[in-house]
Amino acid sequence: MAALDVPQAFRRGGRKSHQEWLDSGCALVELMAAEAGRSDLSTLSVLDIGCGTKLVAAIVEQGLPVGRYTGIDIDGALIAWLNAALDEPRFAFAEVPARNARYAPDGSPLPSLERLPVDGPFDLISMWSVLTHVTPDDAAFLLGAARAVASPDGLLLASVFLPEPSEGGHGIYDSMRRWFDRATFDEQGFADLNPRSPLKWAVFRRDAIVEIAVAAGWKVEAIRPPSPVAQHVLVLRPA
Ligand SMILES: C[S@@+](CC[C@H](N)C(=O)[O-])C[C@H]1O[C@@H](n2cnc3c(N)ncnc32)[C@H](O)[C@@H]1O
Repeated sequence: MAALDVPQAFRRGGRKSHQEWLDSGCALVELMAAEAGRSDLSTLSVLDIGCGTKLVAAIVEQGLPVGRYTGIDIDGALIAWLNAALDEPRFAFAEVPARNARYAPDGSPLPSLERLPVDGPFDLISMWSVLTHVTPDDAAFLLGAARAVASPDGLLLASVFLPEPSEGGHGIYDSMRRWFDRATFDEQGFADLNPRSPLKWAVFRRDAIVEIAVAAGWKVEAIRPPSPVAQHVLVLRPA
């Protein structure tokens, strides 16, 4: 097992032990394969938008099969580190040169970009914990730009924070109800739950995120309930 030795500064998703962090990456990879109807990702070309480092660390350190993995992120330093650390033809990484209030406060607004910095088509596109930290305009841009590089029978999986209780109790609404009760949703059906920490909890009402996905050229095949692996998951196919 090769260690990627990701610096702490480039690890997203709470303070977990290294093994817990890798396990949650493996669980997401398993979920991706299952949603794509495969036993693994060995035959698929994957685009991971807002990639961070967790999936690639899980793939490399746990030896998970993947056809091609392209990771893009708005954090230029993280992408530079990945490009320097991994020189293997099945991996590629590129920076999305734009701004996000939480992760990259400088730069131009995302919707001013013409496209994502990658060439498709991709069989499987993932956005894990990304729509949970973006504005409605950025969500619309990312879903539209992802649609442009999806293969005709491609699949997009994206986790979202929905303001709804869930049966299993794994959603953030279940544990943070007081925050939701105080939140003001705008006319687009969006709320930034803690404006003092912008985009830490970006919440879309179900109909709002569905409308954005549909306008971006996607058909909503399903919205999976929150689980220990991910929050609500949008399962999208090209319309
Ligand atoms: C909570 S982290 C999740 C990282 C990774 N997907 C995971 O599950 O560990 C959110 C990531 O999305 C990236 N991000 C935020 N806005 C973005 C955008 N507009 N385009 C690409 N990446 C973005 C951030 O830099 C950050 O790495």
